[in-house]
Amino acid sequence: MLVTKCVSTNLKGHLTIEGADAIELAERFGTPLYVYSESKIRQKIREFILSVNKYYNGNGMVVYASKAFSCKEMYRICMQENIGIDVVSGGELYTALSVGFPAEKIVFHGNNKTRQELVQAVENGVGRIIVDNLTELKLLDSIAKELGKVAGIMLRIKPGVDAHTHDFIKTGQIDSKFGFALETGEAMKAVKTAIAMDNVNLRGLHCHIGSQIFDVDPFELAAKVMLEFYRDIKLETGKEFDELNLGGGFGIKYLKSDSHQPYGEYMKNVAAVVNTFSHELGIKTPFILIEPGRSIVGVAGVTLYTVGNVKDIPDVRTYVSVDGGMTDNPRYALYKSDYEIVCADRAEEDRSETVTVAGKCCESGDLIQENTKIQPVKAGDTLAVLSTGAYNYSMASNYNRIPRPAVVMVKDGEARVVVKRETYEQITANDL
Ligand code: LLP
Repeated sequence: MLVTKCVSTNLKGHLTIEGADAIELAERFGTPLYVYSESKIRQKIREFILSVNKYYNGNGMVVYASKAFSCKEMYRICMQENIGIDVVSGGELYTALSVGFPAEKIVFHGNNKTRQELVQAVENGVGRIIVDNLTELKLLDSIAKELGKVAGIMLRIKPGVDAHTHDFIKTGQIDSKFGFALETGEAMKAVKTAIAMDNVNLRGLHCHIGSQIFDVDPFELAAKVMLEFYRDIKLETGKEFDELNLGGGFGIKYLKSDSHQPYGEYMKNVAAVVNTFSHELGIKTPFILIEPGRSIVGVAGVTLYTVGNVKDIPDVRTYVSVDGGMTDNPRYALYKSDYEIVCADRAEEDRSETVTVAGKCCESGDLIQENTKIQPVKAGDTLAVLSTGAYNYSMASNYNRIPRPAVVMVKDGEARVVVKRETYEQITANDL
């Protein structure tokens, strides 16, 4: 049994991804290769939409956090599924707009947006710019005035909730570079400043407590804290908001041992908290935005590699080196992230060997996984690293001038390239 139902095996014993034979994909498109199951992505999006409909009367919008996997085809899928997207840079915004993504359904994040990015957002009519700090708020108000527009905004608040996840991907606590702190009075001051401005329309507030979170409690607590703040704002200023953005961060199963929280449960509990508290606190029940990223694309993606050499160091360890590495999957080097790995040629055989899968970069820390169990492998075999759909292609680099892999999407067994493999010409294109 493999960690995700997204992959299976065929009569040849090969791994399949949404019905496509991994070995054939590797031969046809080359390796390293990112492969996505399109149906899985759509299924995950629909699960979130359903949960908002079922538990919150449809009074909300699913906003895909596109930093998890951003490319034109992914934005087209979001458009077809009729959800919003979150972008976090001019580049993501540009990509989304280039396929005709409706600007009103774009949420623009970032703790240090440039003037140019803010102009790009206002000119194109981005629905909600999530303002991070006072400097940005003032700059945005003046840009909107210059352009003769009113910018739809939300303010990013640090609710002071500690989510149990890796330090690098926690964001809700006071010591975070993102947003306005509640405890210090900074958030209330920012709200009052924004309300008094003529060229911004404060639609509500935003919070995001971190990523890869399994417990529902911190999400419930964050919602509660935000609603109490809504009540305080109403009392102090008379202003009531129509919207509340609760961010993303829902955990996915990388290993069988990871606990699994169905996303419907999250919405069920959070909707109950929002309904009850809005009523008790005497404020409007807000339209809710949620921003799942990893949970939409994570398990839908698999990375395929070709084994180059197997180096057995007696009494130390066995290194299996593949033709990619930290350039296409930096997550082990960054966070010691766990992954399940299978030999795609013999996916049904016992995983009897303990090996370290290493990349080809000139760096000892360039590992995909240490001491992991896989089938006995040899040079030329294809390795599949499962659940790599989130934050790998989007964080890929050209370290050592290694071209970024192609991205292929599979639907009903049919594969198509959605991002071409980078070439050496492209890598050197900007060199003078
Ligand atoms: N909303 C905001 C404001 C965010 O900052 C993020 C993620 C999300 C939504 C989506 O979170 P998700 O549902 O994907 O957990 N590179 C790291 C993850 C960084 C997350 C950044 N923000 C990783 O590879 O684990």
